[in-house]
Amino acid sequence: MTTSASGEEPVAEQFGMTKDGQAVELFTLKSDTGLVAKVMTRGATLVQLHVPDNDGKSADVVLGFDSVAGYESEDNQYFGCTTGRVCNRIAKGKFTLDGKEYSLAVNNEPNHLHGGGEKSLDKVVWKAKSFSNDKGQGVRFSYSSPDGEEGYPGQLDIVVTYFVPVTGNRLNITYNATTDKATPVNLTNHAYFNLAGAGSPSVLDHTLRLNADRYTPTDDTLIPTGAVDSVEGTPLDFRKVTKIGQRIEPLTGTGALGYDHNFVLNAPEAGKKLVLAAALREKTSGRILRVRTDQPAIQFYSGNFLKGQVGKEGKSYAHRSAICLETQHYPDSVNHSNFPNTILKPGEKFQSTTIYEFAVAGTEGNGKGDGAKKKL
Ligand code: BGC
Repeated sequence: MTTSASGEEPVAEQFGMTKDGQAVELFTLKSDTGLVAKVMTRGATLVQLHVPDNDGKSADVVLGFDSVAGYESEDNQYFGCTTGRVCNRIAKGKFTLDGKEYSLAVNNEPNHLHGGGEKSLDKVVWKAKSFSNDKGQGVRFSYSSPDGEEGYPGQLDIVVTYFVPVTGNRLNITYNATTDKATPVNLTNHAYFNLAGAGSPSVLDHTLRLNADRYTPTDDTLIPTGAVDSVEGTPLDFRKVTKIGQRIEPLTGTGALGYDHNFVLNAPEAGKKLVLAAALREKTSGRILRVRTDQPAIQFYSGNFLKGQVGKEGKSYAHRSAICLETQHYPDSVNHSNFPNTILKPGEKFQSTTIYEFAVAGTEGNGKGDGAKKKL
């Protein structure tokens, strides 16, 4: 036995009830270095994520609600949820697989978004099993989506594991899935971050660096044209550290209303090994978030549809007051044969990992440790 957080198995608390009477449980995962994550069974959702700032003061850096009713309301724009079966958009909600055409919910006119309607992965209640070992604490959420649910073929058995290592202030999310019929799968987490603390007025002063030379241009409804273009000379060039607000204005008049783009990750291993995809910083708190993933792309969304809805502790979430860095496959991959494959077949195992790693500026770039090397 150890005296650290890893010695204790996280215990389920009651978070509330869904409208249709299902109990929703909440688990708390802690590191020994100050990170606290709360995750719930509805939508296998990240509800709170507390991380220390430069002075060791913690704040909750993700948007969300204090109650199940909040998550069930119109104000919930996929806050912190597991998103799928296919996150992002599918053109007109249609695709053809093995000669058969499938029709999905058109829930984001004229397209399908984030897995569809009442039974998309963010809305169902998952089973949960917590665990701890000498490396940290975790919760394994599982959900078996029946053949035909939300129009998708095949029974999809999904396991999403949240894990907080003992040290290092990291939240690891691992996705596993198997199917009994060929089916598209694209899974992500939809956390909205504001590193000054959820409810702070804007993210336009946060700086961002993305490890992406290319992106997938879209039409006005945010469906990729099929091209993969260079970010060079566009407001999408985040290869050097850049303030989010610096070049956002020209994008306001586009279908995206700001940043809402799929960036193709660099590095030869993208799509196989974990790569450093994104680094986000907030000056006042000194907080830094690094996103590592084995997925081939990342959707950077600048919270353009946030509308001042009231979230946790009565704080309101203004337009562009948080950003999402959603690791995933390219949108509408199922309709673009030149995009990396998203079809999972019987007998195959889908596996993917994303790590959100937090640091503070004060401890980096001092020539000691690996802070300087890791800088993105
Ligand atoms: C999409 C946005 C959408 C938002 C919904 C993001 O993943 O890219 O277009 O409005 O999710 O909350």
